[in-house]
Amino acid sequence: MNLNHTLILTAQADCIDSAMREMRTAVPTAKISSELAPGVLCIDLNTETFENLAATWRVQPPIFVRHICPVEEMVVVDDHARPVPRLQSALMPLLVQIVPDRPFSIQTRVFGEGLPFTPFDLNNPLAELVRTVRGAPLDVRHPAQVISINLALIKGELRAYIGISNVLNNLSEWAGGVRRLARDPDQISRAEFKLTEALETFEISLPSRGIALDLGAAPGGWTRVLRKAGLYVTAVDPAALDERIAHDSGVRHLRITTETFLQREPEQFDLILNDMRQDARDSARMMASCAPLMREGGTALMTLKLPEHGRDAAVDHALNILRRAYRVAGARQLFHNRSEITVWLAPSDGGSRIKD
Ligand SMILES: C[S@@+](CC[C@H](N)C(=O)[O-])C[C@H]1O[C@@H](n2cnc3c(N)ncnc32)[C@H](O)[C@@H]1O
Repeated sequence: MNLNHTLILTAQADCIDSAMREMRTAVPTAKISSELAPGVLCIDLNTETFENLAATWRVQPPIFVRHICPVEEMVVVDDHARPVPRLQSALMPLLVQIVPDRPFSIQTRVFGEGLPFTPFDLNNPLAELVRTVRGAPLDVRHPAQVISINLALIKGELRAYIGISNVLNNLSEWAGGVRRLARDPDQISRAEFKLTEALETFEISLPSRGIALDLGAAPGGWTRVLRKAGLYVTAVDPAALDERIAHDSGVRHLRITTETFLQREPEQFDLILNDMRQDARDSARMMASCAPLMREGGTALMTLKLPEHGRDAAVDHALNILRRAYRVAGARQLFHNRSEITVWLAPSDGGSRIKD
C-alpha cells in the first residue's frame, strides 16, 4: 500500500456500489484495499494522489461519496486498552503539516465491536498534543485543517489510518460526513433534518420574506422550517398536515396532488421545495413543470427517491430531465437522506421563468 495514494471513503452502505462507480470514474486505477465497516472503505488510488482527486471533486462533487480523508500513516495498535500512546507517536511526524494559526480538529471514527474507548476518549489527548507541539487553535465546529483518524478492528487487528487535510478537500466538514443535528421539541418529522442539512451543505440562506411552495408537504416538517424562517407557505399534499402547522395562518394547505395543482392558474414562488414520495423521474418531470412558477433569483430543492434497482440510471435520467428546466447547482446524498438524494436547483440561464 503506497500511503501517499491512499484514502478512506465513506458513503451510505447500501449505495456503496454507486460511490465506487464515482470513484472509478474519477480515478480508473482506484482499488478497494480493505473494508473498515459497511460503507467505509480504504481505497488505493495507485497512480493518482488524494490532492488531485480532492481538487477535481471540489469543483464537481460526487453524489454518493459522502466523505474522503487521506491516509498518510497506517499503524497497528497492539494495546487495545490504551491506544493513545501509539496514536500520539504515529501522529507526531505528520504534525509539521499543521499550520500554527489555522484552526484544527481531530476527527476520530472507531469501527469494531467491544473496543473499550470512544472517539471522544482519543480526541482530547491527541488535540492536546497538537496544541502543544504546533500551537494551533482547536475548533471542532469550523476547522480549517483536519486530522482524520479511522480505527478499525479487522480480523482481530486494531488498525489506525491517519491523515491530515484541508477541510475543503474532505467533501464534508464532519467526520465521515456524519452530520448530527439536535432534535427540536417542536419538530414535526425527521424530514426536517434533511432540509436543515441540505440548506447547510449547499450554503443556502432561506429568504426571510416571500412565498414558498412545498410539494409533498405532509406531515409538515419542511413547512414548519420555512414558517420559522418567516416565509408564507403553499403546502401541496392530499395527506393531512400535523395539527401544530395545519392551523397556522401563514400556511395554505391545498389537499390536492401536484398534478392537479399544476392545472390551476399559475402562481409565483420565491422558493420551491419537493419531497414527494414518487418515482425520481416522475418527480423530476413535475419539478420541471414548476420552473415557470419560480420568481427571478429563486431557488429550488428536491429529493429524488431511489429505486431498488437501476439507481444510477434513474438518477442520471432524472437529472437530465431537470437540466431542461433548471441549472442543477448541486446533487448529494446527505447523511439524513435514506433511499434518496437531495438536489439543489437554480434558474437556468435561458430558462422559462416568468419575470415580475
Ligand atoms: C416523505 S413525505 C414528505 C415529508 C415532508 N417533507 C415533511 O417534512 O414532513 C412524502 C409526501 O409526498 C406526498 N405525495 C406523494 N405523491 C404526491 C403527489 N403526486 N402530489 C402531492 N403530494 C404527493 C405524500 O402524500 C407524502 O405526504
